Amino acid sequence: EDAKKVVLEQPKNPAQYQKIKIRQGINSRDKKVKVSAWVHRLRSQKGRIFLVLRDGSGYMQAVLSDRLTQTYDAMTLTSESTVEVWGTLAAVPEGKSAPDGHELVADYWKVIGKAPGGDDAFTNKISKDADPSLLADMRHLVIRGETASAVLKVRAAVLRAFRDEYESLGLLEVTPPCMVQTQVEGGGTLFKFDYYGQPAFLTQSSQLYLETCLPSLGDVFCVQESFRAEKSHTRRHLSEYTHLEAELGFLNFAELLEHLEQVICGTLERVMANPATASLITQLNPDFKQPSRPFRRMDYKDAIKWLNENDVRTDDGSPHKVGDDIAEAAERKMTDALGVPIFLVGFPREIKAFYMKRIPGDEEFTESVDLLMPGVGEIVGGSMRMSDATELLEAYKGEGIDASPYYWYTDQRVYGTCEHGGYGLGVERLLAWTLNRYTVRDCSLYPRFTGRCTP
Ligand code: 4AD
Repeated sequence: EDAKKVVLEQPKNPAQYQKIKIRQGINSRDKKVKVSAWVHRLRSQKGRIFLVLRDGSGYMQAVLSDRLTQTYDAMTLTSESTVEVWGTLAAVPEGKSAPDGHELVADYWKVIGKAPGGDDAFTNKISKDADPSLLADMRHLVIRGETASAVLKVRAAVLRAFRDEYESLGLLEVTPPCMVQTQVEGGGTLFKFDYYGQPAFLTQSSQLYLETCLPSLGDVFCVQESFRAEKSHTRRHLSEYTHLEAELGFLNFAELLEHLEQVICGTLERVMANPATASLITQLNPDFKQPSRPFRRMDYKDAIKWLNENDVRTDDGSPHKVGDDIAEAAERKMTDALGVPIFLVGFPREIKAFYMKRIPGDEEFTESVDLLMPGVGEIVGGSMRMSDATELLEAYKGEGIDASPYYWYTDQRVYGTCEHGGYGLGVERLLAWTLNRYTVRDCSLYPRFTGRCTP
């Protein structure tokens, strides 16, 4: 028969074919089904065409044979085309493997949308050795790949698990604004914009708003985008990142650290308890191990000592001294050498944000914590907060901040104060650690960083 003239007819009994998503295939073994999907891969072998179909919910092998392979569409089929395949889901023959151990033996199929071949073929657009900036331009196609989509699926599972963990710990989710007129983490990284003629910023952290919720809603958390105009071009800085923040009232610093340990470990346990997610994690990071509790505690002053004993220098080559900020490179060296999660506590007041509570009796230092993970470094920053209004007013002054736009934050201390503390966790950084990704950029759907705000 002339290929161009072979025309397939739809089966006479269309109602017999149940429309399913690929993940539902496991419940439809030996039944007639209809699957709509993208052609993830294709190969011809001995007169048959093997397709790996992808619909986001999973992967499924489909087999076309006989007349089904003889149409014009079959001969010109390209990967990333969309197709509809009708057939019977059968276990793969002994000795063969396929996703979920079965394949769709087609009775009928058709093309819905054909993807280009030749120079414009999908595989030419996202070649692995392409320049990173070209790959960034092609992010919308890159996310179709097995690795990028696996990361995004784990990301969704992690966010779901955090919400479950917080629910079980009694924290309530709130949604603070992204457009604000106050700073939290210093003026240097603020994105400014014009708000109906008034200066405003994209939020750096929802912390101040979470604090105001304590008297109203009790312990709270949020999952909100934060924005930082970071001039640093590093593998762990984004201009927009997903910030998981929580705030808790009537607790002390030791309790805050225990809570944080519980949230991290409890969330990862939930994630690993789901077999589908656990298998994605081991696919991406075969060495993944749950962190063991308790996390190692290390005082800032001991960290400075450790750095000097191990000859880790500051960025300008001098030895570290108490009062220094520990730069990313030094922090990473120490964390990698110690090889376990570390609660680094008690940073100097001078290098930390204005709102942090001082250590009673050692007032130049604060009840603050960074959680450091091997391979990534800091993934969480948190602290106890000043609970006294007068002390806070002094702290604004020390930082050169006009107190008036912060009246609502100060009021948290005026109308019934309490000891309280909280933290922010960078979701992309946690994922980079969990999935052993080189950069946080791979853990964001459409990463924003210096010089990139597209696609
Ligand atoms: O240490 P940071 O700046 O702390 C705060 O914003 C506090 N106000 C949070 C709070 O107490 N509610 O940021 C917290 C975390 C960091 O540990 C890091 O994981 C992440 O946010 N982070 C970034 N992630 C990606 N790109 C950036 N530019 C980031 N800046 C901070």
